[in-house]
Amino acid sequence: MIIKIYNAYMIDPFTNKEGIVDIFIEDGVISKVQLKNKVKSLKTNSKSSSSIMEIEASGLYVFPGLIDMHTHLREPGYEYKETIRTGTLAAIRGGFTSVCCMANTNPVNDNPEVTYYILAKAKEEGSCDVYPIGAITKGLKGEELSEMVMLKEAGCVAFSDDGMPVMNPLIMRRALEYSKTIDAPIISHCEDLFLSENGVMNEGKLSFYLGLKGIPKASEEIMVSRDVILSKHFKAPIHIAHVSTKGSVEIIKKAKEEGVHVTAETCPHYFTLTEEAVASYNTNAKVNPPLRTEEDKEAIIEALKEDIIDVIASDHAPHHIDEKKVPFQEALNGISGVETAFALSLRLVHDGILNLRELIEKFTINPSRILKINKNGIKEGAEADLIVVDIEREWIVDKEKLVSLGKNTPFDGWRLKGKVLFAFKGKKTFDMRE
Ligand code: DOR
Repeated sequence: MIIKIYNAYMIDPFTNKEGIVDIFIEDGVISKVQLKNKVKSLKTNSKSSSSIMEIEASGLYVFPGLIDMHTHLREPGYEYKETIRTGTLAAIRGGFTSVCCMANTNPVNDNPEVTYYILAKAKEEGSCDVYPIGAITKGLKGEELSEMVMLKEAGCVAFSDDGMPVMNPLIMRRALEYSKTIDAPIISHCEDLFLSENGVMNEGKLSFYLGLKGIPKASEEIMVSRDVILSKHFKAPIHIAHVSTKGSVEIIKKAKEEGVHVTAETCPHYFTLTEEAVASYNTNAKVNPPLRTEEDKEAIIEALKEDIIDVIASDHAPHHIDEKKVPFQEALNGISGVETAFALSLRLVHDGILNLRELIEKFTINPSRILKINKNGIKEGAEADLIVVDIEREWIVDKEKLVSLGKNTPFDGWRLKGKVLFAFKGKKTFDMRE
């Protein structure tokens, strides 16, 4: 199969190249990347036969396949919520050709057997690259370190107990020390469970008014502080997952200024929504950490602009409808986010907060550097790993049309601007024009 993409505007942070290009792909490998001064349009919009596909892409963008460093693919164990097959297909629809999957499966990914299982399934049924994240502690219990060296050798690229914090600072210290020796970062779910005290939303006037137990911002910030201090003293990198508060941003900013090896991610729901989204007891907006206030949202947007937050990840957390269609207090936390994350983030570009290159860096080169996964970008001789995007194309989120088994999105009915039209991953071609 030969694919010829003409006149796309390419932004590739890996090769540091930008401009109008023709890109040819032959049998899954990029055979030509030609930057050009002038657009010489093809007559046809796109034509294909069984062996050749030509795409006239004037006005469209080409980016390296996006990387989502925080997803829950739920397999093994929770296949009724998501599988590696459905989760990776959903990822492709969202523009991601690489995803990391968190360890809170059943069994937990705290031993090489589970890692091998995930990798084998991904190879068999996956649509994109899957990078498992190993558990920091056995069973995510926070008590005993998992066999991190063996997990790394089996294919884990990072370690996290995401969903659960590592409450014991000595265990976190040891994890950081090990992670340094095996060159795979710790990703920290920052939450002090004593302070969270089974809360279900952000603590404040609204939680009081709704009669729901709140989670104070201090619950997150105290652990961000602790982990930054551990990272500083024991000289090991730490990556802070799903940053949700202004206070966390301030701590990370100060730590970065002091030269601490800290990186951070946030998710689209923290810069597009506030706690108001749960005011009607909408369980699809129930997430951990919880949606916060306007002030926090603004601080996160500013932190993305100032590069205090390096990465945007979806924290794709699909759940079955029966786990959400219950009283608010009982509903599970999480948003099915991989299909909407990039389009929601494009708002930052449409609103003039980030330029397109800055946004693409947060979805490509930054996560790849943090995880130390080698990505070539769009260059001749490399495996095809790229997407074609119409950043102006509007579409309406319809939860029933999500490919993910998780229909738990608070963005149902939202009009978003920016659609992934094609993804090319090795020999796989995904045509998502509708
Ligand atoms: O909302 C969340 N859902 N936050 C987490 O940290 C875990 C995740 C899940 O696994 O459902």
